[in-house]
Amino acid sequence: MAIKFSRTFLLRKLHQLTGVVPLGVFYFVHLYTNSTALNGAKVFNDHVGGIHEMPYLLFIEIGGIFLPLLFHSVYGILISAEAKPNVMDYGFARNWFYLFQRASGIYLFFFLMFHILNFRFGLVPGLNMTPVAGNADKAYGIVAGEFQITWVMAIYILGLLATAWHLAYGLFLFAVDWGLVIGEKAQKVTLYGCLAFALMLAVVGINAAAAFVRPCGLLPSSMCEEPRLTTPQGSTRF
Ligand code: HEM
Repeated sequence: MAIKFSRTFLLRKLHQLTGVVPLGVFYFVHLYTNSTALNGAKVFNDHVGGIHEMPYLLFIEIGGIFLPLLFHSVYGILISAEAKPNVMDYGFARNWFYLFQRASGIYLFFFLMFHILNFRFGLVPGLNMTPVAGNADKAYGIVAGEFQITWVMAIYILGLLATAWHLAYGLFLFAVDWGLVIGEKAQKVTLYGCLAFALMLAVVGINAAAAFVRPCGLLPSSMCEEPRLTTPQGSTRF
């Protein structure tokens, strides 16, 4: 007997899948590249340069990041519009988590538009006008310049917190919905694991952002490779 899937079911599954692969995988790579700033401007710029030397980069960006991001965001906004938060009626943690998932998704939609226009394309009037693409040697200086502005840094910290929550709790929802963890106890353990994972993503993300303001970020400078050689503006002192 042939099994029939409704269009909504397939779109929901595709929405969950695009959140984990490729977007979740991309974020890991991105967090790694940003964390290389702990070791100074040159190391970060070299890593960004390495990405820009990849063959077929434009196709990888369009197919692996921009299109999945567009589908995930637009369909996510449609789901959020249908959501009926009930935290006032039932104050259970899972109801709050449900609300945070949607709120962080909506914030990320606007944050990512700003972030990509700002750094990738250098197109936010009044802010940085140099695209990182094609200027990898200036990448650290571009980010560090923006992070000197308090409100820009605040938007990024919120973006890093929203991403940490959205990705980690999204993984939990994915694991439950795809039948990877069945049973109350297994789901409870997975939930705690995902909450710890959210905390780790938030700490690593904020530390990477701090590395554009202070050498070695929030860590003691003895833990990084010669970060003292780099000024916050990205020039290197020898
Ligand atoms: C410490 C905070 C962050 C820094 C320093 C940072 C830095 C950058 C830079 C420099 C670019 C341009 C890359 C290029 O042109 O090669 C970029 C692009 C991008 N970032 Fe971030 N980012 C941060 C946080 C985030 C967060 C929280 C997200 C959420 C998912 C994110 C998602 C993206 C995306 C989707 C792109 C476009 C990718 C591409 O064009 O290849 N970033 N980021």
